[in-house]
Amino acid sequence: MSAQQGRFVTFEGIDGAGKSTQIAAVVDAIRARGLEVVQTREPGGTPLGEKLRELVLHEPMNLETEALLMFAARREHLAALIEPALARGAWVVSDRFTDATYAYQVGGRGLAEDKFRTLEHWVHAHLQPDLTFVFDVDPAVAAQRLASGRDQADRFEREQRDFFVRVREAYLARARAFPARVAVVDAARAPEAVTTDVLARLERLA
Ligand code: TYD
Repeated sequence: MSAQQGRFVTFEGIDGAGKSTQIAAVVDAIRARGLEVVQTREPGGTPLGEKLRELVLHEPMNLETEALLMFAARREHLAALIEPALARGAWVVSDRFTDATYAYQVGGRGLAEDKFRTLEHWVHAHLQPDLTFVFDVDPAVAAQRLASGRDQADRFEREQRDFFVRVREAYLARARAFPARVAVVDAARAPEAVTTDVLARLERLA
């Protein structure tokens, strides 16, 4: 890991894939190298973004409204937090980014791909994560994990199994489209085994 330049690392996967444990491990590993790391999430990451998160997670809305709000929150996130952090050489670790919009809104809900591409280009034509982990797990396993750890399910977590099958497929399609950036990690295993793989892949990000 270079001390000279900030890197942008994102974490993806269906609800219940086990991202949180892995994010903590990666943040610790980067910090242990004496590097500045900014941990953030989408939707959210800024005061406005967190308000938009409340809305998109809990308020019923049209699919295109949902996609636009995800990208509106993202534009703010990039301008106020991600881009300044990278510019000063910090690492940015985000729990979800644009691959989630592809997986959930395009794959899960059926948003037209050309609309997705237009928004992606508008909001961050110049920037993609340096490395993206997709935690891949069978939706049945993820649902069990969610059921054992949750209080109140949001609009996405309440979706049925076939929705998460489509979301998972869309993540895998995105990984095939961007193999140099996106690493698919088998998240059905014990968390420690997953962490070992994740940290090994992180090391290769010079
Ligand atoms: P998540 O990241 O899983 O947070 P938590 O673990 O606190 O529930 O929740 C965010 C939800 O938002 C998740 O179900 C996926 C969804 N989402 C989209 O549908 N599109 C997006 O672009 C993003 C960033 C998230």
